[in-house]
Amino acid sequence: MRTKKDKYKFLVEKREKALLGGGRARIQKIHESGRLTARERIHLLFDEGSFQEMGVFVKHRSTWPGIADKKIVGDGVVCGHGLVEGRNVFAFAQDFSVFGGSLSEANAGKIIRLMDMSMDNGAPIVGLCDSGGARIQEGVASLGGYADIFLRNTLASGVIPQISAIMGPSAGGAVYSPALTDFIFMVKETSHMFITGPKVIRKVTHEDVTPEELGGALTHNSKSGVASFMADDDEDCIDMIKMLLSFLPQNNMEDPPYFTPSDDPNRTVPELNELVPDDPRAPYDMHKVIRNVMDDGVFFEVQPLWAMNIVVGFARLNGHSVGIVANQPMHLAGVLDIDSSVKSARFIRFCDAFNIPLITFEDVPGFLPGTDQEWGGIIKHGAKLIFAYCEATVPKLTVITRKAYGGAYCVMSSKHIRGDYNIAWPTAELAVMGAEGAVNILYRKEIESAGDSDKERQKYIDEYTEAFANPYVAAGLGYLDDVIAPENTRPMIIHALENLLNKRQQLPPKKHGNMPL
Ligand code: HXC
Repeated sequence: MRTKKDKYKFLVEKREKALLGGGRARIQKIHESGRLTARERIHLLFDEGSFQEMGVFVKHRSTWPGIADKKIVGDGVVCGHGLVEGRNVFAFAQDFSVFGGSLSEANAGKIIRLMDMSMDNGAPIVGLCDSGGARIQEGVASLGGYADIFLRNTLASGVIPQISAIMGPSAGGAVYSPALTDFIFMVKETSHMFITGPKVIRKVTHEDVTPEELGGALTHNSKSGVASFMADDDEDCIDMIKMLLSFLPQNNMEDPPYFTPSDDPNRTVPELNELVPDDPRAPYDMHKVIRNVMDDGVFFEVQPLWAMNIVVGFARLNGHSVGIVANQPMHLAGVLDIDSSVKSARFIRFCDAFNIPLITFEDVPGFLPGTDQEWGGIIKHGAKLIFAYCEATVPKLTVITRKAYGGAYCVMSSKHIRGDYNIAWPTAELAVMGAEGAVNILYRKEIESAGDSDKERQKYIDEYTEAFANPYVAAGLGYLDDVIAPENTRPMIIHALENLLNKRQQLPPKKHGNMPL
């Protein structure tokens, strides 16, 4: 008979085994590949000593020859909850040392339970993914596990923040759980995401592509827009996740966390008076506006490498989290196109779901012309951005720094679509189009028949500019609340924001809208 002492010893040994996952040799291989183990990642994410693990001794139930007798406690996923910077967070980390981190029926059960608990508790969930996909030996039982996870991702969407970090392979249908979450982090060189890998692609389409080119961090951060953030390594990735969490509320019923500010809310920024060039076609960097206006110059940019003609991300104004959407004149003159519409629409919907006020900085010459755009569906993709702004009920503040032309004027959080505080700099031009384009249409005959057509065109351009390309027509109609000196932007929008923090607006009762997808 085993004594009590034996039983305690047995527990200690079993726990030590669980901590080692697939064993020392496999852990060494993971380290050699430049990655950390699941437990090391969890350790970095949570505040010292706060992580409490669940399902420590869960084992798989497969009866497949070759695996039936190979049971590893924990079964390849570390699940639990704890504190991240003092706030409750739920997380799972797939353990590549155990059957390649593959998803079994049993370890899917752990993840599902964790997801249910994070919903019940109204706390964010973080998934650290490093997995060869469905546990091949378990067949449909593993696929069922994925479907159970997809359902929960969907139900949790807009209720609790869901964050995924791809920190190794993520292949096949397994990519869809991260894709259903709010943000995807990827780690440079060690993470890959694809539906079908290079070998299948070679067979089917005869294309030769490396895993890195096909689905590496740079690809998904700059080409496909699937990922939201690119980290240098695992440590950097975990730091970035913590930074993101710091801007977010725990759930959709709460306000985002407030940080006592160190920056002066009345700080003026005289440099902003010099920023917009006299030549309306000359670019300037919208990041300078954002960083100069936000608390301590901090801006946590989302998708900085994709659709760079629009800039989105999180910052704080006098300690309050805000979501920034800004046209970027440095890229494609800040024009709206398919990718920038999709990028900003999704970001706006996230902020609206989680009570994060939206600050829009606008300098947009319109929608990008071209067959690529028309045939690619700019009509429906641009409509996503309109839909997102129209539907958003969080405080919406808009600063027009220069151009607000055509449909883009309406789209970018205008007064007409429930903008709460809309202001412009004196350099703003609110018009159907730029002066040159307008006079070429309106006065084509007069310009062509004039002796000196350049002089004649310039005369009409000057007249048009005087009449329309300024903020005062819109201000006179009440479409703008004010025209301000750029240097006063920070104090003005902080004041407006703080008056809007209790804003409550309802959408008409409905099951859900039918957003153009
Ligand atoms: C069971 C798996 C596994 C899996 C890897 N392993 N993937 N075991 N099921 N899906 C095991 C390997 O057999 C190996 O075990 C160990 O994990 C490490 O794998 P390696 O291949 O040695 O590692 P590496 O060279 O780094 O390659 C990693 C990899 C590769 C790229 C992920 O393992 C791979 O291609 N795996 C299969 C990917 C895949 O096709 N998955 C199914 C996708 S479909 P030993 O004991 O030999 O060390 C899918 C459907 C989901 O997921 C549908 C949802 C809708």
